[in-house]
Amino acid sequence: MLKVVGVETYYGKVKALHGVSLEVKEGQLVTILGANGAGKTTILKTISGLVEPENGTIHFNDIRIDRKDPEDIVAMGISHVPEWRRIFPELTVYENLLMGGFLIKEKDLLRDRMEEAYRHFPVLRQRQKQRAGTLSGGEQQMLAISRALMLKPQLLLLDEPSLGLSPLLVQDIFATIKELHRSGVTILLVEQNVNHALKIADYGYVLTTGKIFLSGTYEDLLDEEKVREQYLGEGKYTRRADLWGG
Ligand SMILES: Nc1ncnc2c1ncn2[C@@H]1O[C@H](COP(=O)(O)OP(=O)(O)O)[C@@H](O)[C@H]1O
Ligand SMILES: [Mg+2]
Repeated sequence: MLKVVGVETYYGKVKALHGVSLEVKEGQLVTILGANGAGKTTILKTISGLVEPENGTIHFNDIRIDRKDPEDIVAMGISHVPEWRRIFPELTVYENLLMGGFLIKEKDLLRDRMEEAYRHFPVLRQRQKQRAGTLSGGEQQMLAISRALMLKPQLLLLDEPSLGLSPLLVQDIFATIKELHRSGVTILLVEQNVNHALKIADYGYVLTTGKIFLSGTYEDLLDEEKVREQYLGEGKYTRRADLWGG
């Protein structure tokens, strides 16, 4: 469904991606893992057209998209949930969802999609008239995901959905993502939370300073001594989670 080949993206003269290649097949949940600054967000922004790659190609359903505008890419079926959720805090939950459905012209369809979002996340129905800024971090993430789902994307890009959430909410959000995947949504999930992400993913890529360093299934990656050292062994991420929780 998505094929990224040799992508190089720059910010001015600074090269953020050094030839990234990856693939997402229909129905898969694929994760990109990497530390802060590795280039995870840049990959998602390059796919959704927010930044243009200097070199390389991106194909979506065999159509080349790396020179297209973000609006066209959304319309083709790729929705992006950005880092830190970026909901509209002053708008209500309902209005936020409405913004997500901006491309839908038929009122009935809009109503159906809204209903679907509320069915997926009943807490959003309870809070539909509440300003989004008053929701908890976990609820805001659910809203951000629901907003992206309003257009029924073929591919959902999730940028660190667990960022800044307490360990309990992190569990919830990963359960939510797993559920979405099970309901048939194809997902590309960017995470620092290696253990959680790998457990629910079909396939994972490990990114270090703009390069894919390793890739494989959960079992493959857990077997890799390097991953264990770098991401799991030191307990770096557990400590991060503890910090958030505290
Ligand atoms: N708007 C920007 N301008 C300049 N440099 C940027 C910008 N955004 C990201 N970078 C740099 O690109 C690299 C990758 O960043 P990013 O994709 O945000 O990593 P991650 O999401 O893995 O933390 C980092 O070195 C970061 O400093
Ligand atoms: Mg990022």
